[in-house]
Amino acid sequence: MDEHKGRLRASELEDSGDVGVNPTHNLTMGEIIATRFNRRDLLRGSLAVAAISATVGHRALAANEQPAKKASNPVSFDFKEIEAGVDHTHHVAEGYDAQVLLRWGDPLFPDAPAFDPMKQTAEAQARQFGYNTDFIGFIPLNGSADHGLLVANHEYTNEELMFPGVGVQDSKDAIFAKMTQELVAIEIAAHGGAVVEIRRVDGKWQVVKDSKYNRRITADTPMEITGPAAGHPRMKTSADSSGRSVRGMINNCAGGVTPWGTWLSCEENFNGYFWGKLSDDHPEAKNYKRYGIGTPAYAWGKFHDRFDLTKEPNEANRFGWVVEIDPFDPNFVPKKRTALGRTKHEGAAGITNGDGRYVVYLGDDERFDYVYKFVAAGKVDPQNRAANLGLLDEGTLYVAKYDPDGKGTWLPLVHGQGPLTEANGFRSQADVLIETRRAADLLGATKMDRPEDIEANPQTNRVYVMLTNNTRRKEDQVDAANPRANNAFGHIVEMLPEGGNHAATAFTWEVLVKCGDPSVAAVGATFSSETTKNGWFGMPDNCAIDSQGRLWISTDGNNAKATGRADGLWALETEGERRGTSKHFFRVPVGGELCGPFFTPNDESLFLAVQHPGEAEEGTISTFENPITRWPDFKDGMPTRPSVLVITKQGGGKIA
Ligand code: FEO
Ligand code: CA
Ligand code: CA
Repeated sequence: MDEHKGRLRASELEDSGDVGVNPTHNLTMGEIIATRFNRRDLLRGSLAVAAISATVGHRALAANEQPAKKASNPVSFDFKEIEAGVDHTHHVAEGYDAQVLLRWGDPLFPDAPAFDPMKQTAEAQARQFGYNTDFIGFIPLNGSADHGLLVANHEYTNEELMFPGVGVQDSKDAIFAKMTQELVAIEIAAHGGAVVEIRRVDGKWQVVKDSKYNRRITADTPMEITGPAAGHPRMKTSADSSGRSVRGMINNCAGGVTPWGTWLSCEENFNGYFWGKLSDDHPEAKNYKRYGIGTPAYAWGKFHDRFDLTKEPNEANRFGWVVEIDPFDPNFVPKKRTALGRTKHEGAAGITNGDGRYVVYLGDDERFDYVYKFVAAGKVDPQNRAANLGLLDEGTLYVAKYDPDGKGTWLPLVHGQGPLTEANGFRSQADVLIETRRAADLLGATKMDRPEDIEANPQTNRVYVMLTNNTRRKEDQVDAANPRANNAFGHIVEMLPEGGNHAATAFTWEVLVKCGDPSVAAVGATFSSETTKNGWFGMPDNCAIDSQGRLWISTDGNNAKATGRADGLWALETEGERRGTSKHFFRVPVGGELCGPFFTPNDESLFLAVQHPGEAEEGTISTFENPITRWPDFKDGMPTRPSVLVITKQGGGKIA
C-alpha cells in the first residue's frame, strides 16, 4: 500500500502513519557533518573526509576497504526488455508466458462457490482466494519445483472496486456510511492469506482444489501470541484474559519462507483498522501515537468492539507482528512471534547464518523508520523440523545505524541494556517489543526512507534493502544512507555483514542505486549508462534473488504521471562492470502495483502478484461499476481482480 494511490484510504493510512511517527531527534549523519553529500561524494574530498573523522571519530573508508565485489560475474540477464508504459493490461518479455493462476474470488475448495461479484458473502469469500496479494512464497512438495504449496498474503481491500454501490466518496465518513455489516464481514474474510496446492502439468500450472493443504486464513482466524510479549498484561483484552490468543492478522504485506518450510507473514499498516482515541494520559496513548493509530481507514470499528480502542484499549498491541504459519498442517494455529518486534512490518526475509543460526531481516515501512534484524538464539536443525518451529521465539532483535563512513552497527533491543530501562518506561523485554519503535528511537537508529523488502543473497552474503521513497525528507535531514531530500523515487542500500557473518553487529554498506529517471539531472538517479529508457524504475518495493544470485525488483508507485510507466519487475545487475544496469521484464495493468516476486528453486517459474489493478490514479476515478480496467477477465460486469500470475519460458527453461 502506498501514498501514490488515488484512493482516500491508502493516502490517509500513510498520512496517519506519518503523524507517527518518528518524533525523535536522533542526529542524522547530515546533521552531524552538516553536508548533504552521499558517501561517494564524501570520499572524493579530503575536507569532507576530515570532517567525518574529526566530528564523529570514524575513519574514512579507504578504497581498499570497500566491500569486495564477488570475483566471478554471475550470468547476465538475457531477456529482451519490454517497453515501459501504461495500459489496460500486463506485458511480459518476449518468449515468456504470463499465466493467470489465482484471481480474487477463485474457489480453493471443492465446495467453494464460484465467484459471483453481485452475490458476495463472507462465507463464500472465506472459501475463495482473498484480495490484494502482496507476498507470495512457493514451498516445494517432495522437493519438486513443479508441485508445491503457494502461500499468499491478502494485504488489504479496496471497497470501491470490490463492491457495487460503494463508489468513490470524498470523506472517510462517507465511505464508512456505505459499509454495511455484511460488507465489512466480506472484507474481514478477504484479508489474511491462503495456502494453495499447485502443480505444473504439461507446462501449465493448475490449482489442486481438493488438496488437503488448502486453507484460507482471515482477519478472524484464531492465532496464538508467542515469545516474550505473550501473556503480558498489555496484551490482554476482555475476550482474552491470557494475552496469548488473538483473532486474525491484518494488512499482511510481504513475508518470507523459512528453510524449515514455514511461511512468515508480516502485519504492516495495522494502525488503519482501529477506531477511537485514547485520552492523552492513557498509558498506551504515546505507544499508539508512535504507530500512527487514530485515523481509521476501515469501517470495522463500526461493527466490532475489538477494533474500537475506547472499548478494547489493548487490542492494537496484538497487531503489528510477524506471523509464522506451517502450511503443511491446515489446523496449525498461526503464531504471532513477538520476539521479532512490533512495527509496520514489510517483510521477513531470512538466511541461515554460517554457524546455523537463522537471521531475519525486517523493514519497518514508514517514512523515517528503521531497518531491523532478528538473530535466533538456536540453530536450524535440518533433521528436526518440530524444533525449528520454536526458533523464532528466542533471540535478539537489532536495529541498524548507518554511519557516514560506509560502516554501520546493529544495536540490540534488549531490556536493561543502554536506555531500555524502567526509567524510560521499559519494565521488561515485553515492553521493549510492544514499543519496538520507541526503543529503537532511544538507541539512535538511522531514520530511513521507508524500508520495504530486504533480501540476503546467499552466494555473496550481501543484503539488499529497498527504500521506496520519502518526499518528506528535507535538505537538512539528508544523510549518507538516505542521500536525497524530497526522495520521490527511492533507492537501494547494499549491506555486507562483517566477515559474511549475519549475526555480527558490524557491517559495511553503500548505496547500490538511486532510482528515478537518469536523463533528468535534477533527479540524481545513478543507474548505469547501459540502462535504457525502459530500464530505469522508481519506488523499489519487493525483491527476490534467483538461484543464480541475481536481483529482481518489483515496484509500487510508478504510474503515468509519476514516472510515465506502470509498476512492474526490473532485473538489476549487482556485480562487476554491469553493476547498476537495470532491465524491464514485466509490467502491470493501469492502477496496479507489482508484488511477489518469488522463483521456484529451479528458476523456471516466477510468481508475481498484481495488487489493486484498476485502483484510481491521480486524476482518475475507478469503481466497481466503472473501473479503469477490467483486468484480467475483461468481461462486462466482472470487476477488476487482483491476481497471482506465474511466468514461464516458452518451450521451457530458466527465466533468464
Ligand atoms: Fe505493503 Fe510497505 O508495502
Ligand atoms: Ca507496496
Ligand atoms: Ca511493500
